[in-house]
This record gives sequence, C-alpha cells and structure tokens, in this order.
Amino acid sequence: MPARRHAITRPRLRCSEPKARGGSGSLSAKVPLQGDTNVRASWHSFLWPIVGRHPSAEKSAVALFLESPPVLGKILFRYLSRYRWLLLGVLVFQLASAAATLYLPRLNADIIDKGVAQGDTGYIWRTGLFMLAVSFGQIVASVTATFFAARAAMGAGRDIRADVFGKVSGFSEREVSQFGAGSLITRNTNDVQQVQMLAMMGATMLVTAPLLAIGGIIFAVQTNVGLSWLIAVSVPLLLLLAALVIGRMVPLFRRYQGKLDNVNRIMREQLTGVRVVRAFVRERIEEERFRGANTDIMVVGRKVGSLFVLLFPLFMLILNVTVVSVIWFGGIEVNNGTVQVGTLFAFMQYIGQIMGGVIMASFMAMMIPRAAVSAERIGEVLDSESTLVRPENGVTEFPAPGALALDDVEFTYPGADAPVLHGISFGAQPGETVAIVGSTGSGKTTLVSLIPRLFDVSAGSVHVGGTDVREADVEALWDSIGLVPQRPFLFTGTVASNLRYGREEATDEELWAALEIAQGRDFVEEMPDGLESRIAQGGTNVSGGQRQRLAIARAIVHQPKILVFDDSFSALDLTTDARLRQALWRELPHVTKIVVAQRVSSITDADRIVVLDGGTMVGVGTHAELLETSDTYREIVESQLGVDA
Ligand SMILES: Nc1ncnc2c1ncn2[C@@H]1O[C@H](COP(=O)(O)OP(=O)(O)OP(=O)(O)O)[C@@H](O)[C@H]1O
Ligand SMILES: [Mg+2]
Repeated sequence: MPARRHAITRPRLRCSEPKARGGSGSLSAKVPLQGDTNVRASWHSFLWPIVGRHPSAEKSAVALFLESPPVLGKILFRYLSRYRWLLLGVLVFQLASAAATLYLPRLNADIIDKGVAQGDTGYIWRTGLFMLAVSFGQIVASVTATFFAARAAMGAGRDIRADVFGKVSGFSEREVSQFGAGSLITRNTNDVQQVQMLAMMGATMLVTAPLLAIGGIIFAVQTNVGLSWLIAVSVPLLLLLAALVIGRMVPLFRRYQGKLDNVNRIMREQLTGVRVVRAFVRERIEEERFRGANTDIMVVGRKVGSLFVLLFPLFMLILNVTVVSVIWFGGIEVNNGTVQVGTLFAFMQYIGQIMGGVIMASFMAMMIPRAAVSAERIGEVLDSESTLVRPENGVTEFPAPGALALDDVEFTYPGADAPVLHGISFGAQPGETVAIVGSTGSGKTTLVSLIPRLFDVSAGSVHVGGTDVREADVEALWDSIGLVPQRPFLFTGTVASNLRYGREEATDEELWAALEIAQGRDFVEEMPDGLESRIAQGGTNVSGGQRQRLAIARAIVHQPKILVFDDSFSALDLTTDARLRQALWRELPHVTKIVVAQRVSSITDADRIVVLDGGTMVGVGTHAELLETSDTYREIVESQLGVDA
C-alpha cells in the first residue's frame, strides 16, 4: 500500500544532553552531565560529613576547589572592574567601619578602668559620648559600604545576564540543544544570582573579616592579659573545622545546580506539552518524573543542610568555650591583681571580634565554591562559540538576488552517525517556484534549514543570491530570505507587532496587504481589536491554520527575495490553500518560492519539483517529467489521488 509507505515516521535523533566541552584556554572546566537520579537518602548521606567522602562525589573537593576559582576570578574581575570606583568606596568605608569596631573595646576598657574604678563620672560621660559618636560613625560607614557594594554587585549581575543573553541569541540550534533551554535559563538566572551574591557579600565581608580578625589579634595581644595562647588554640581550631566542612560542600553545590537544571527542564516540558500530557493521560507519570527530580534536589539540599547544622553549633561551641576560658583564667589574673577588669573585658570583646571575623570568612569561603560552580556554568555559555561563524566583511550586496543553488549538499546532524541529506543539487532562478516533496522524515525541513543557514552543510555548498551562504553577511542573508517554519511561532504581543517582526517600519496598509495575500484578512478583521488584537505566548490563542497564515503574512511583510514555506499550507483547507497560492503567485511574481508540500495537488504547476527519499534526491523536474521518470513521485501522486478521490 503506497499510502502507508509515505506516512512512516522515522525515529528522530535528537541530542538533548549537554556534552562535556573541552576547556583548553577557556573559562570553563567541565560541564556536569545531567541525569543523576540517585534519589535514595541513606543513613550514609547523613553521616558522611563526619565519616568521610561521599561515595558518589565525582572529584576530590580539593581538586574542585583548586580548579574552580580561576573561572570565578575571571568573571568577577571582568564584570566588577567597571565598578572599581564604587568598590574603592566600599574599601574606604569598610576600613573606617572596621577601625571604629576595633577602637570601641579600648574605649570601653578605659571607661571601666579609669572611669568606674576611680569614680570619675566626668570621664565616664566624656568617653561615653565619644563612644556613641564612634558607634554612629561605624554605622554610617558600614551602611554606605553596603550601599556601594550592592550597586556594584547588582550592576555586575545585570551585565553578566546581558552578555549571556547576547551570547545565547547568537547560538545556532546546535548549541541550544547541547546546553538545553532549561539549563540556559537556570544559568542566566540562578547561577548569575549566586555570583552576584558572592560579589555583594564579598565586597562587604572580604575586607571586614580579615581586618577584624587580624586587628583583633593585634589589639588583644596588646592588652597584655597573658591569655594570648587561647587565641593560638581556638583560631586554628575554627579554621580547621571550616576547611573540613567547606571541602565537602564543593561537590554538593555542583550537583545542586545540575539538579536545578533538571527540575527546570521537566517543568518546561510539562508546560509546553501540556495538551499532549492531558491527551495521553500522562499527568500521573509526569508528576512522578517531577517528583523524582524534585526529590533529587531535596536530597542534595539536605546534605548541604546537614553540614550547616553541624557547622554553626560547633563554631558557637568553640567561641563559648573560649569566652569561658577567658573568664576563668582572666578571673585568676584579676584576683592576683595583675590584670584590670576593664582590660579583661576588652580582651574578651577582641576575642569575640576575632572569632566573628573568622566565622565571617568561613561563611564567605562557603559561598565561594557555590559561586565557583555557577561561574563555571556561566563561563561555559560565554565561552562556547556559536558554530554559526559570522564571516568578517561578509558579502552584503548579492550579485544575483533571488537566485538559489544547492550543489552536492550533504548534511549530518551533530552526534548522528549518518548524514540525513546527501547528494542534493538543484537551483532556482529569481521568481521561480521550486517544490520539495517526500515522505515524512525524508529531510525536507533539514534541507530548507540550510538555505537561511540555520545549520551549515557538512559538504557541498548552498548559494543564495549567487554567494555561498558561509561568505554572506548573516544579516543580509536573513534579510533576503523569508522563512515560514513548519511549526510557526508567534510572540506575545499583538497581530501587528508579530507581523512587524518581519519589518519594523511596515505601515498598517502593508500589513493588511500581506494579510490579504496570506488569506488572513478576514479572520483578523473579525478579531475584536483587528491588528491590535492580543496574541498570547507562543500564539496559543489562534488556531493552527490562523497561526500559519499569520506566519506567512509575517514573511511577506519582510519583503524577501526568496520565500521558503516549510509545509506551510498543511493546516489550511483545500480552498484556502488554492486561494493563498494564487494570490502569492499573482502578487509576488518576482520572489523565488521554495515550497515544501505534502499535497502534490498544490505543487503541480511548480517550475521544478525535487523529490526526496531517505535524504537523497530521487528525482527533479516538472510534474509531467517526473510522472514519466520518477517511480517515487508516481507513487506519491497515485497514493494521494487515491486518497483524495
Ligand atoms: N535536531 C535533529 N537532530 C538529529 N536528527 C534530526 C534532527 N531533526 C531531524 N532529524 C532527523 O533528520 C531526518 C529528517 O528530518 P526532517 O525534519 O528534515 O524531515 P521532514 O522531511 O521535514 O519530515 P516531515 O515531513 O515530518 O516534516 C529525520 O530522520 C530526523 O530523525
Ligand atoms: Mg518537516
């Protein structure tokens, strides 16, 4: 049965997994592969922070830590350097704030030792007021520093997002499918946020923490209480603890971002495919799939949480034990009369500041690995070069506008073993109509994608307007081609804004004229606001046939030299189809038309018909010629006449 033969859908090869990309000389190190679905939370996952490395940790934490910072450093440097004046302001005000913080305990000691101990109320008042002024200055400095830091960090975040967006806009389909749309979105939102947050916290803490810790140590030693050995014990202990915990967090954060990608991807698929999901009663299964990804995130998040849970009580324990020791041993000294109460008090405050500084630094250090993972993911996007190489000084004036020539074209999808197209050669003179027919999966869409250079040929060449598309200026190339894709996409906005996507300065009359040709005038007139009627996201509030006609009108408004219709009349009834084609041929006689069609009846009068079968050209000629020469064409015609009759 010939009719059956042309309805076979071949399995589609699609690459949706991001590939590991090499990092030679680039910002990035390695793309984490998605799909780790180890959902089970075992006891081990709770205990591993204590007992050792998690079995599924891919790389040692130290290795990750050492290899990550350069990317983070590069990104921070690249995007923060333009805010250097703000950052200088942060530094100055942080210094002032830290100096004030360090000065306060000394004043406090003076009040106790000189004022209280000697009963000098005037001194207490004077020094007290001075302390108040210093505190106030400290607050103002700290607030100003945070204000500047926020401005710099948020500005940098905006710049990174803009660059990622710009980069992604230049991607060809190959790169988009390698990363996955969901992952690209996560990278440009959540990942940028991590880096932005680190920049913000870093600007405020990176200066304060070491100043407090080091300044605290110096002043504490200066108080000469004789308890400095306590610092020598507790600070290294804190640092050791922080290093241990942070080392374990790095691989977790990397996995966390990967899991976030998964949730994003499933959510997106669910939303875009909601009708299919409902129609096939797959809601339960989709829910399961989401639950899996969601649980994955929870498990990783819980591990991070269990580390935090450990960390802070331990910090506080060390801090409190140290304070108690100060009071214990200091009390003995006070009793002996070797140390004054106020001085001991100041020493205690300095110990607090030192520990505060160390804890702050640990907190920062904990954010660094997470931001480093995010930075790496951002770096991968910024680093990956679009396979669509834009030629320098590309041809903008085509020698033969409207002409098209394919010469021995071969094309292989990235990651596929065999070419989907090979040995394709045909051409069209300006104003001619070339039809492409073939069974589903024979490569028609792939073939027409090569004309506007959505993909580059693997071998052979495509000439548009007499120029090899790889040598043409991309904008000029796209300007000369109007593509109506097989699955037309409309943007959120109005009918007019969608049509003007083709050419911004088009007048309303031109829009109506294009709609007239596309047989869309009637239904747009019937819409409540005419040209200003609202189009929902993805064009879901118009019917399939209406969407096709709007997409055709959009391509006409574009005023191209070559119009490419990829199965664009399939959703139209036979009468509308015929009227549309007549209008097209009548109104746009000088435009070259490449028409992919299912219905042979719509292309019998084409200047040339190309017959594809399994990616090769099995016939080319007029309808009459092909009926004589091509078995495949005859089969298609007979099957359709059989169906139509
Ligand atoms: N992004 C892709 N990655 C890998 N293989 C692909 C991709 N898109 C299509 N293919 C494969 O290329 C072949 C040709 O697909 P194409 O979409 O060009 O067919 P078609 O002739 O337009 O089919 P239809 O009539 O159903 O629109 C198919 O076998 C398909 O599996
Ligand atoms: Mg197709």
